[in-house]
Amino acid sequence: MQMEKTFLMVKPDGVQRNLIGEIVSRFEKKGFQLAGAKLMQIPQELAEQHYGEHKERPFFGELVEFITSGPVFAMVWEGENVISTARLMMGATNPKESAPGTVRGDYAVTVGKNIIHGSDSPESAEREINLFFKQEELVSYEKQINNWVN
Ligand code: TYD
Ligand code: MG
Repeated sequence: MQMEKTFLMVKPDGVQRNLIGEIVSRFEKKGFQLAGAKLMQIPQELAEQHYGEHKERPFFGELVEFITSGPVFAMVWEGENVISTARLMMGATNPKESAPGTVRGDYAVTVGKNIIHGSDSPESAEREINLFFKQEELVSYEKQINNWVN
């Protein structure tokens, strides 16, 4: 069993469109467990660090502008294979290719406003969790319900 943690974030468009509850609900019902969460406005420097891998891409400026344009809902989720499964549940980066039933497939239209971020590998997950959360902001606890889904 591959117990993992991943970093997920409802982007400013998702917050503005009242999708925080819907998104949290999907991951909760799936059987993953919330380990940390906060509503925050991302400072410029953190945005540039978070999306550092894209700094040479033509869309970098707009991406940083967008992600700092309003509050986001940053979360850490825990569970078996949560990193790759969350990516599946988010859908493809470009909503015109994301399958119905995924967050982006159901709620997004354009790549620049695609509702949700999720770490794409164990290395990114560790890096992103540490960028956004202090260790003491994370909570790990036993839930009896896990006996029914794992
Ligand atoms: P990326 O890490 O490739 O996608 P994902 O969010 O699925 O991990 O890109 C980061 C974000 O950058 C993406 O969610 C939306 C934005 N973006 C664009 O605006 N235009 C693009 O052509 C790409 C590839 C991404
Ligand atoms: Mg990415």
